[in-house]
Amino acid sequence: MSTTHTTVAAGADRYSLDVARIRGDFPILKQTMNGKPFVYLDNGATALKPEVVIDAEAGYYRELGANIHRGVYQFSETASALYDGTRTKVAGFIGAPDPRQVIFTKSATESVNLIAYGWALKNIVQGDEICVTEIEHHANFVPWQALAERTGATLRCIPLNPADGTLDLTGLDGLVNERTRLVAITAMSNVTGYMPPVAPVIARAKAVGALTVVDGAQWVSHSSVDVKTLDADFLVFSAHKMCGPTGVGVLYGREQLLEEMDPFLYGGDMVLRVRTDRTVFKEIPDKFEAGTPNIAGVIGFGSAIDYLLDIGMDAIHAHEQHLLSYAVEQMAAIDGVVCYGPTDLSTRGGILSFNVADAHPHDTGTILDQDGIAVRTGLHCAHPFMHALGVPGTTRASFYLYNTREEVDRLVQSVRRVREIFA
Ligand code: ALA
Repeated sequence: MSTTHTTVAAGADRYSLDVARIRGDFPILKQTMNGKPFVYLDNGATALKPEVVIDAEAGYYRELGANIHRGVYQFSETASALYDGTRTKVAGFIGAPDPRQVIFTKSATESVNLIAYGWALKNIVQGDEICVTEIEHHANFVPWQALAERTGATLRCIPLNPADGTLDLTGLDGLVNERTRLVAITAMSNVTGYMPPVAPVIARAKAVGALTVVDGAQWVSHSSVDVKTLDADFLVFSAHKMCGPTGVGVLYGREQLLEEMDPFLYGGDMVLRVRTDRTVFKEIPDKFEAGTPNIAGVIGFGSAIDYLLDIGMDAIHAHEQHLLSYAVEQMAAIDGVVCYGPTDLSTRGGILSFNVADAHPHDTGTILDQDGIAVRTGLHCAHPFMHALGVPGTTRASFYLYNTREEVDRLVQSVRRVREIFA
């Protein structure tokens, strides 16, 4: 692909990406916030959108406007081709053998719920076990807890080491046992950026015949992903965290499992034949995509994938690692700042959660906001994780391809100001 966004190899103070050029692609980065140049460090919540994605989404409304899979006229067929073209791009992006294994939903959360309603509700019964981890985002925790309550199954939880938020896998063989039907695990924590060793968990699940669900909401946007290597039964993620529009999620699944699964939503475009006494559903992926989908969003998502691939996921990952190590080093030099997550940064993506002395994270976030810096504060939709860490919340800075060392300097400067105020 084009190397227009990359520069020479990264050094200690050089970027592997042409960040100045990349920043020019993102119109929001020209904004000010509270009168200061805007520093966006809330990429864990959602990523900014480059002009090409905004244009693709608006272009659908301006130039096509038609529904998909329903019209024989040119604009409808073009819209259908673009929509289904994104499916092929997503399959390529994650190394899925067949685009039919890519289901569009409205979010990663909906994708998890689709598995819960479409597979688990039918297959999990009283006495079975479901295993999750203590570091999950609620999206990959609450659906399984609710399903366990509904079916009478037992929910087991792989605990974390409170010292650094890593998973404690010493009890894995007991937690994932012959009663376990499903194991759900994140590939990257939204709180600390920690990428747990998913492989032994998947291997153990396979050994006892349990299905595996991997939450890739934070991971897929920041790494080169290959579902064949991952070898999980399901992977979920969302477009908006990878420079695509909001309102589009992905469920990747093993073909045979998807074929066996029940639809979650019923209605138009997912049926082959409807009679008053019986309905025959379409094959995958259509049987899971009832109703008019987010056509513009999916088309915009296709542009986001092109954009990321043009830059290169390995280069993006390396850039974030560079920013993370610089930020960790700078923050460590501030008296009273506590950072969370493993110190081995090679096990982490570009997320830095911290607290500043006695300042509540919301106070820290408010001061950072005054300085033009956007971060997330609080419990990060990960209450069990925060509870186990024993903190009332954290302030989270999360990096992406357009962030710079100068922005890390702005963050550090503002954190110093928090420290002075709460001294
Ligand atoms: N899951 C997103 C976050 O961690 C919203 O902020």
